[in-house]
Amino acid sequence: MEQHGSGKRQDQADTLRRLMHGRVAIRPQTFKPIRVISVTSGKGGVGKTNIVANLAVLLQRLGHKVLVLDGDFGLANLNIVMGLEPKGTLYDVLEGTKTIEEVMLTGPGGIRVIPASSGIFKMTQLSMAEKAILMERLEQSPFSFDVLLIDTGAGINSDVTYLNSAATEVIVVATPEPTSIADAYALMKVMSQDYRVKRFKLLVNMVANPKEGLGVYNNILNVADRFLNISIEYLGHVLDDRKISQAVLSRKVACESYPTSLAVRCLETTAKSLIDTPAKGELTGNVQFFWRTLLKEDETSAVDRREL
Ligand SMILES: Nc1ncnc2c1ncn2[C@@H]1O[C@H](COP(=O)(O)OP(=O)(O)OP(=O)(O)O)[C@@H](O)[C@H]1O
Ligand SMILES: [Mg+2]
Repeated sequence: MEQHGSGKRQDQADTLRRLMHGRVAIRPQTFKPIRVISVTSGKGGVGKTNIVANLAVLLQRLGHKVLVLDGDFGLANLNIVMGLEPKGTLYDVLEGTKTIEEVMLTGPGGIRVIPASSGIFKMTQLSMAEKAILMERLEQSPFSFDVLLIDTGAGINSDVTYLNSAATEVIVVATPEPTSIADAYALMKVMSQDYRVKRFKLLVNMVANPKEGLGVYNNILNVADRFLNISIEYLGHVLDDRKISQAVLSRKVACESYPTSLAVRCLETTAKSLIDTPAKGELTGNVQFFWRTLLKEDETSAVDRREL
């Protein structure tokens, strides 16, 4: 046993050394630029998980290969919204009991999903050696994708800020509720001041009408313009629509069970405008580049590349 343990530690040390010297090779055949988009919020329960699930399917329908990462390590419910049964998590990949291919699920419309780990395993708490091992295993994945969508938890805790800082685009979801508006502002403030993320897209969910969505945007923009050095782009609104929660009850995404519902129409517009407005200026890399950013660098250095 001892032999096995020390052998594993030696492996980890070797990988770490090669990683630090930039000798963990990225397979050239998998090099394909990917948009890494995190969907996040200051306040919980604003609709992130449903938005990610539907946007993923809609973007895939528009011809983009989508990978979804359930980054809500607290309460993993993306798989519930999509009606999927996880067969493993990134923790199993780290332990070497499963490959990333075995852990990835196939969701509606052919999207691929990496489930979260329900609190057992936190990326932010991995040692450098563990991060190096996990990265090397993830980099062996032969898949390539056009878009990686990350469903983060809510708030300004390190799990959320960490994932947002590794993304190339950050979509902040808010609702017209004053607490949600205040928390969205607080999240952008922390991301800009502590992580140097300067560009955000705002999506206003559960609105009564389009004007209400624009009102929320202008409200946040006015304060941000006065106190923060950031740019916020209005991505759009999603109407308040019972069909979203009805779809969850049947463990299906709304865009499959209620394709003509009001909220789904809004999400279609959102998916199209995401495609029409590709990331400006941000560095793009393949999915392996994302893992590298996420796992190699610490929380603050991960965002240095945003200073463009
Ligand atoms: N446009 C909408 N209209 C009506 N209800 C909605 C809409 N979007 C989301 N909901 C409902 O709001 C609730 C919260 O949604 P969801 O779980 O997606 O939020 P979340 O931001 O991921 O929450 P958490 O922060 O806990 O992860 C669910 O009951 C969902 O059905
Ligand atoms: Mg959620």
